[in-house]
Amino acid sequence: MTIIVTGGAGFIGSNFIFHMLKVHPGWRIVCLDKLTYAGNISTLAPVMDKPNFRFVRADICDRAAVDSLFAEEKPDIVVNFAAESHVDRSIEDPGIFLQTNILGTQVLMDACRKYGVKRFHQVSTDEVYGDLPLDRPDLLFTEETPIHTSSPYSASKASADLLVMAYHRTYGLPVTVSRCSNNYGPYQFPEKLIPLMIANALNDKPLPVYGEGLNVRDWLYVEDHCRAIDLILRSGKTGEIYNIGGHNEMRNIDIVRLICRELGKSESLITHVTDRKGHDMRYAIDPTKIHTELGWLPETKFADGIVKTIRWYLDNRPWWEEIVSGEYQNYYRKMYGDR
Ligand code: NAD
Ligand code: DAU
Repeated sequence: MTIIVTGGAGFIGSNFIFHMLKVHPGWRIVCLDKLTYAGNISTLAPVMDKPNFRFVRADICDRAAVDSLFAEEKPDIVVNFAAESHVDRSIEDPGIFLQTNILGTQVLMDACRKYGVKRFHQVSTDEVYGDLPLDRPDLLFTEETPIHTSSPYSASKASADLLVMAYHRTYGLPVTVSRCSNNYGPYQFPEKLIPLMIANALNDKPLPVYGEGLNVRDWLYVEDHCRAIDLILRSGKTGEIYNIGGHNEMRNIDIVRLICRELGKSESLITHVTDRKGHDMRYAIDPTKIHTELGWLPETKFADGIVKTIRWYLDNRPWWEEIVSGEYQNYYRKMYGDR
């Protein structure tokens, strides 16, 4: 079995590669990644020398490069994690989001058709459903919830989902789609809420909470997401969409306070800054379908996962310190300078 994993040098993709090499030691994994600012080749160092692992630097939008890799590897499965993934960046500069997230997905699916790939799995997001009100805790996103996007990022992911389902209906491409809630865990790029707050707190820098910090996200430990995708690849039905989430809704402000507590830092570091434009209020996944049809359940409780994650950032300072010392400084000044 040969799997091409796109975006495997990023946060979830790298965790997925580690997971798959551990649970399917006989499978061959080929990582295709452009190494944008969010991709980090050093993350994959522990598996680089494995005989059943290969890394290829390429852009999923590059038809010739994708075609020659598929011709060489003849993959059975393609899992597409490659994407521009940060909502704030999509608000600043949407173009690359449309390019990579929509057109890149098309290039991959065309190659899947040409080479008779047995499964194309699209890693999507709960953000395609838009948001839910805070005063209706009874409402959750199901797979039937209409697409209703807010940011250029979520619009690009929703567009890709529609294209994936169109390739299934029109060409019979064997696809599956998963829509997961917010992930946290090791190797997450420190522009996202949890690693950003950990890194800033460790450096005694202000902790920039957007608005009042009352927005709710539904957090899932990254390994639980990886297990769910593995299960969908093996037992999921083609043409189906699966929501992934663990009923773990938390307000941003409570997460930031918890990080302060765990690190022994003062909450006076918390600084309320101008809100994100079009900021989604609440995400909450109903995972009934993946639970009843495939038997998936999350294994890591948030209380344990967040402690493990903080421990990882403490034990792996060089990994994120190198990131926050480079080009990231310009990004940070631009995004937070006069916020
Ligand atoms: P990430 O930003 O950490 O990693 C993205 C990876 O894709 C990087 O390695 C980057 O180099 C690579 N990449 C970007 N453009 C590319 C291109 N044109 N060609 C090849 N490689 C390219 O992202 P992540 O948080 O790991 O998210 C992975 C996927 O999961 C994304 O599709 C995202 O939409 C989805 N998702 C993320 C979350 C979350 O909480 N992080 C939740 C649900 C779904
Ligand atoms: O729900 C899944 C999505 O989760 C994925 O599809 C995206 O790829 C992923 O980036 C994530 O999107 P969010 O916008 O929810 O994640 P982010 O970490 O950027 O922000 C989480 C919440 O924290 C959000 O309400 C905004 C807030 N926030 C974020 C940052 C970076 C702050 O208050 N301050 C910050 O500095």
